[in-house]
Amino acid sequence: MEVCRTIESVRDMVGKARGEGKRIGLAPTMGALHIGHVSLLRRAAEECDFVVVSIFVNPTQFGPGEDFDNYPRPFDRDLDICRKSGVDIVFAPTAGIMYPDENLTWVEVEKLTEPLCGMSRTGHFRGVTTVCAKLFNIVLPDAAYFGLKDAQQAAVIKKMVADLNMALEIVVCPTVREANGLAVSSRNKYLSETQREEASKIYASLLKCEELIAGGETNSSKIVRQMREILDEIAGGEVEYVEIVDAGTLAKVETVKGSVLAAVALKLGRARLIDNIVCRIIQPEAQ
Ligand code: PAF
Repeated sequence: MEVCRTIESVRDMVGKARGEGKRIGLAPTMGALHIGHVSLLRRAAEECDFVVVSIFVNPTQFGPGEDFDNYPRPFDRDLDICRKSGVDIVFAPTAGIMYPDENLTWVEVEKLTEPLCGMSRTGHFRGVTTVCAKLFNIVLPDAAYFGLKDAQQAAVIKKMVADLNMALEIVVCPTVREANGLAVSSRNKYLSETQREEASKIYASLLKCEELIAGGETNSSKIVRQMREILDEIAGGEVEYVEIVDAGTLAKVETVKGSVLAAVALKLGRARLIDNIVCRIIQPEAQ
């Protein structure tokens, strides 16, 4: 496994692999790798012949007062995880390499970035899409791997790739959970043991949504109310949003039909936690 610090070196190595007819997979990350990332790396290694992982805590996706400075950066541990997960190259640029001058070119996906996390994290998705577009241009992967935990991010990146005719496949991998159901996240490091237990109620609220929809409930307000009751039990938790939206457009739905995404964001201590579940209404067979 090689660690590349410059754009030229990663382009050179990936170019050689491509020249040998290898399928290139990219997993963009901000490091602090956990079992959720490992599932992306393993999937990339299964489906591709050459796997690149980028480790870059991207300053342009953090707003004022967010955790950019404190974001965990356990680089040696991350390299160990990559080495054990079949990664060929770790691309770990500095901010000076990724943004050498004042950045005047931004990639912005409209509408999909407005609801859910877009409501409180102004400019966040603009930073994500811009850095992903840059990484895609640098690595030119055949496929890039993202987690479904960040469902809005995955939807936004898919739309960017479609709208800008980028020649790669976006693969979205299932959310990995701790034993108690809490979605694995780099930000779980900010939680105490008690908070981790409390935070498992986020998944309980999503399972409640799934259960209600499976039982035939289609009124979103009623479902959200019951989810909220569970979330309100989280000691010290502050619900930012709990919503049921169309899984494709991310627009709020009053009546559940087709595929919907139930999504939650909640602050607990120093952590802002997000999670979601996709539920599908099974239409009865026409007679
Ligand atoms: O999901 C993340 O870790 C980041 O948003 C990403 C996709 C690596 C872009 O910086």
